[in-house]
Amino acid sequence: MNQRILTGITTTGTPHLGNYVGAIRPAIAASREPGSDSFFFLADYHALVKCDDPARVARSRLEIAATWLACGLDPERVTFYRQSDIPEIPELTWMLTCVTAKGLLNRAHAYKAAVDQNTAKGEDPDAAITAGLYMYPVLMAADILAFNATKVPVGRDQVQHIEMARDVGQRFNHIYGAAWRAAGGAGDPFVLPEAATEETVATLPGLDGRKMSKSYDNTVPLFEGGAKALREAVARIVTDSREPGESKDPDSSSLAAIFRAFAGETESAAFRHELETGLGWGEAKQKLCRRIDHEIAPLRERYDSLMARPGEIEDALREGARKARAIAAPRLEIMRRTVGLGPLAAPAGKTKVAKKGDKRARIVSFRDSEGFRFRLLGADGEELLLSRAFADPKAAGQASRAFSSDEASGALKPIDASRFVFLQDDEPLATSMEFAELAARDAALERTRAALASLREAAG
Ligand code: TRP
Repeated sequence: MNQRILTGITTTGTPHLGNYVGAIRPAIAASREPGSDSFFFLADYHALVKCDDPARVARSRLEIAATWLACGLDPERVTFYRQSDIPEIPELTWMLTCVTAKGLLNRAHAYKAAVDQNTAKGEDPDAAITAGLYMYPVLMAADILAFNATKVPVGRDQVQHIEMARDVGQRFNHIYGAAWRAAGGAGDPFVLPEAATEETVATLPGLDGRKMSKSYDNTVPLFEGGAKALREAVARIVTDSREPGESKDPDSSSLAAIFRAFAGETESAAFRHELETGLGWGEAKQKLCRRIDHEIAPLRERYDSLMARPGEIEDALREGARKARAIAAPRLEIMRRTVGLGPLAAPAGKTKVAKKGDKRARIVSFRDSEGFRFRLLGADGEELLLSRAFADPKAAGQASRAFSSDEASGALKPIDASRFVFLQDDEPLATSMEFAELAARDAALERTRAALASLREAAG
């Protein structure tokens, strides 16, 4: 099975060197591997759980988005978006909430820790705990399940949340699996995701030698404050009082470990050797700064220029949201019908419900804010074509016959590298999804041809 990698970044802080080495750099490298299908998003709804300062949330969103783009994330290659631009996520959150056992959420580490703290202080167990904190894992499950992600790279503190997403997804599959297939869904409603924790990426130590983390206040900023802030932070890395000329233990300070994260093995070994043979701490810190800057300075330049043009980032995120919704929206459309919230229809029994083994391409009509539309779905439920909107359902029904009848048949034509259309009398009646590559577009074109042929055959 193809892997779909998805991860969210909570937008409450400013990225630091530890985030860069431990998350950003490896994630971007992985997203460049051939055949990778990566989803990165700003978890800004999650930010509201942790932070009620609007200016801080807004600033962090901008800084984090600029950081990822400056570090080389290619929004053409990956799907990069804001959680709050995808209304299907909160919608799915509610559907999942209704199958989630309350007891499961009682066992979440973050919630339990908050309760334990209250109890230790002799307060009411739920004092100052919001329902947002309690529901956090369900929102996270919706983030993942909306896109059928298979692999979720997270820190170890988040592994329990991925297990909960599996639990919730499995429960939904169990309750609604048959209804999902009857509603035109393929397979199970949700693929169950796996957590991917990067064992090989050593966590970067901070100024005081503990793991670099905002909560220890021991971080080195990645871009904010420029080269000067970097130098000032590095100057505060804790060392012992050995003088220049004295031999130093490279492991007595974070210096060598941070150096290692930015240099190859040989260069790092040379740096350690210099410390052992008397390099002064001050000079060592300068070397470290130069080493970090060697990698970071060009990225910082891009960061500064992006920060000065938020409109460009906004455009990239909106385009990302469009790509993300092209996947989530059709899924949610089926999901709504799955749970009984589709358009009103005659009671089941009178309607033709898809039977097991009844696997054919089909046309599904629906209504959205722009009017009445229909889709061509492949035998496995894949969305192949989406029609334009019609003002009235009859006209839409009439037009949809172009898919199934031989006489009215139109032509399939690529319109650009990523899409094709169904033309009728030279007018586009329906458009394909957007594909990342030519080969994917052409493969879908072939599947669409086959689906149309099978519809026409069935129509006789
Ligand atoms: N909770 C995650 C964190 O704080 C961020 C996050 C939100 C996330 N939704 C996600 C991570 C979905 C992976 C998948 O790190």
